[in-house]
Amino acid sequence: MTTTPGAQSRAVPPGPSGLPLVGSTLAFGSDPLEFAARVAREHGSMASYEISGTRVYQLNDPDLIEHVLVHHNENYVKGEVFQNVLQPSLGNGLITSEGDLWREQRQLLQQAFSPELIAGYADVMVDATERLLADWESGTVRDVHADMMHLTVEIAAKALFDVDVREMEADISDALETLMDHTTMNLQRPVKVPLWVPTPANRRYQRALDALDDIAERVVAQHDRDGEGTDVVSLLLADRDPDDPLVRDQIVTFLLAGHETTALALTYTLHALGRTSDAERTLHEELDAVLGDGLSLAEDLPSLPVLDRTVTEGLRLYPPAWELIREADEDDQIGSYHVPAGTTIMMHPWVLQRDPRYYDDPDAFRPERWAGEESDRPTFAYFPFGGGPRRCIGDRFARLEAELVLATICRDWRLDPLDDLSFSPSITLRPDGPVRMRVERR
Ligand code: HEM
Repeated sequence: MTTTPGAQSRAVPPGPSGLPLVGSTLAFGSDPLEFAARVAREHGSMASYEISGTRVYQLNDPDLIEHVLVHHNENYVKGEVFQNVLQPSLGNGLITSEGDLWREQRQLLQQAFSPELIAGYADVMVDATERLLADWESGTVRDVHADMMHLTVEIAAKALFDVDVREMEADISDALETLMDHTTMNLQRPVKVPLWVPTPANRRYQRALDALDDIAERVVAQHDRDGEGTDVVSLLLADRDPDDPLVRDQIVTFLLAGHETTALALTYTLHALGRTSDAERTLHEELDAVLGDGLSLAEDLPSLPVLDRTVTEGLRLYPPAWELIREADEDDQIGSYHVPAGTTIMMHPWVLQRDPRYYDDPDAFRPERWAGEESDRPTFAYFPFGGGPRRCIGDRFARLEAELVLATICRDWRLDPLDDLSFSPSITLRPDGPVRMRVERR
């Protein structure tokens, strides 16, 4: 139990004092991962600070996170951060919408994510990976993050929209890249420049928005509307006119949400495998033993527990959605603190999933930690896909994709990272440049 009705304290949780006027904006902006981890270490289960004039409460305790995401989820909306930063590009898509519209759309689109339909996407995932690998030359250095971004956008469009986006791919990547850069800048800047001011960055952003409108139109035009499809676009078009703005918003939302996170999970897991010879050897042994006779990968997944643990561990150490944000709609009480309406709440898979209270040797990549008995670790010590009603709609899709792509690559290739990882965290845990790896045929 985390709430104690009637015993409300008006005290503010402890936290870094920050600088006059800007609070902790600069400390957060210069290294958000280290900032969030330090706040948790130094100030315990609930801390507070100010970013860009907004009062933030950071929750560092699994039970408090469960309070917000599950038990009192109706009081914790996406709020102003989402409105300011993501709504201009994602409109009323599933990530940014609230209330009845969100509920109706979630129910509608959930149909595209039933276990049976997801299993049907396996061939798309494996075929696209094999096409990518056909371009790899043994002994060369590749930007594996770029490869994974191309691969996952192709898979998302084919599986979710039933269209082939290969010829639009450069446009999609450029537009999404600009959108993410703009989002990062907006999140970190103490003072925002309104969109109508024609700065070069704003003009680039506007062009990216126009390009995304155009891409959504092309996706709808390419989509075969005669069929009774079960993909996301079929479901949308059965419900709305093709030129309804919500159709555009959902297509852009699923393009963005459906590929970058999975690309990051794959890139970082491949990097970790390349740097951890025990984990790499154990995975290769399993793949050689089970896939040696060329059976169907999708059917073999239940016989690949090491692969499953490898993906779980990759998502633990490098959660692509490293930070979750909510806003209190009405006053509440979390733990022993009063939470005024309007407070921004931050919760970090990055922090909880590296917490030594729940993980031995937390910074090490050790897939075998997931072997054996279920641990008594609290649910929200591991939440790469969030939780409660707004949990990721694509979680099973993403895990299937990550496992199939990883297995297809690691069956025949080994990757050797040239550099250490370094991040440029935005809404997602992006790398701050190319992630170069030497690829060798096994
Ligand atoms: C490893 C890959 C992925 C990770 C780590 C991830 C993570 C997350 C997280 C943490 C949330 C909840 C955000 C919040 O509560 O604020 C979320 C929501 C969402 N994800 Fe994912 N995701 C992944 C892949 C996907 C894929 C493949 C799709 C689409 C097929 C997808 C579509 C969405 C959508 C539409 C939402 C909003 C759901 C709602 O609010 O109803 N994600 N994701």
